[in-house]
Amino acid sequence: MEQINFKQTNLNSSRLIYGCMRISGNNTADDRAKGKLAIRTAIDAGYNHFDHADIYGGGASESLFGEVLKESPELRDTLIITSKAGIRPKNDENSYAPTRYDFSEKYILDSVDGILARLQTDRLDMFLLHRPDYLFNADEVAQTFALLKASGKVKHFGVSNFKPSQVELLKSAMSMPLVTNQVEINIHNIDSLLDGTLDQCQLHNITPIAWCPLGGVAYSAWGNTFSVNDELRIENELNKQAEKHQCQPWQVVLAWLLKHPANICPIIGSTTPERIIAAKKALELDYSREDWYRLLEARNGQSVP
Ligand SMILES: NC(=O)c1ccc[n+]([C@@H]2O[C@H](COP(=O)([O-])OP(=O)(O)OC[C@H]3O[C@@H](n4cnc5c(N)ncnc54)[C@H](OP(=O)(O)O)[C@@H]3O)[C@@H](O)[C@H]2O)c1
Repeated sequence: MEQINFKQTNLNSSRLIYGCMRISGNNTADDRAKGKLAIRTAIDAGYNHFDHADIYGGGASESLFGEVLKESPELRDTLIITSKAGIRPKNDENSYAPTRYDFSEKYILDSVDGILARLQTDRLDMFLLHRPDYLFNADEVAQTFALLKASGKVKHFGVSNFKPSQVELLKSAMSMPLVTNQVEINIHNIDSLLDGTLDQCQLHNITPIAWCPLGGVAYSAWGNTFSVNDELRIENELNKQAEKHQCQPWQVVLAWLLKHPANICPIIGSTTPERIIAAKKALELDYSREDWYRLLEARNGQSVP
């Protein structure tokens, strides 16, 4: 599969990243077997970059991936493993505490130790802060990152769901680079195009990663406010383009993301082997500026001014 260098790093990532949020399912034996097959299918299809978070499956997704690494230790050096932490669930020792964000030093250091233990590895290639902690202290986070780097537990650092101002704040305190911002981008949610996120990525050599790239097409997007007519318009245009490019509508959506000059890397979250493989078709489409604006127009219900 096409690879892309994550700027400011030596990481050459498959352009499509495999997302491990759903791999443990309900953590039944059947679901776990399906998850392992998905991981192995992705590796065989050329995905070398795997996205995790400590909360996926309550830790079960990382543990499942750790089992694969234990079964095939030779894989570790061939893979880029990213994980995230900072969302602190309420079901911990203090029942008074609500679900909250927590970037305090101890919480992040302990979280990374937990991630490494579950993944059965001694290092993460990238560690990301999952969602901005409204109470975060940039100097404390920079210090925590420095400790993680010095210990060899994390090679590179990034963020997720950060607004441009939050990236600027954290960057200002860091001596190391921030190498990625993982944000929701799909045909329904184009905030990152409008709020400066993708411009900032290009300006600072930050590689954007798109989560839920098929949101609103394969399933309902988060906070979807699109009407039935809106959805029909998008669907019609996707069908037209799919026919033109001899592919499936959801592959067009991926091509639309890939076209952006910020070099967006979509995370593929399907656990269906055929879809994990078929997603690569998007990398082959000769997707034009006209296609791109047509789909935007269908999404917006009007042409650009
Ligand atoms: N940073 C964050 O805050 C954040 C938030 C959410 C997710 N993520 C990351 O992003 C990754 C991708 O997110 P996602 O899993 O929501 O992404 P996705 O790839 O947009 O969606 C995957 C879902 O769509 C279904 N699907 C895919 N193609 C389909 C089709 N043609 N028809 C019908 N259903 C289809 C899949 O079902 P099947 O499995 O049955 O194929 C699966 O349920 C996650 O794994 C995680 O790593 C990050």
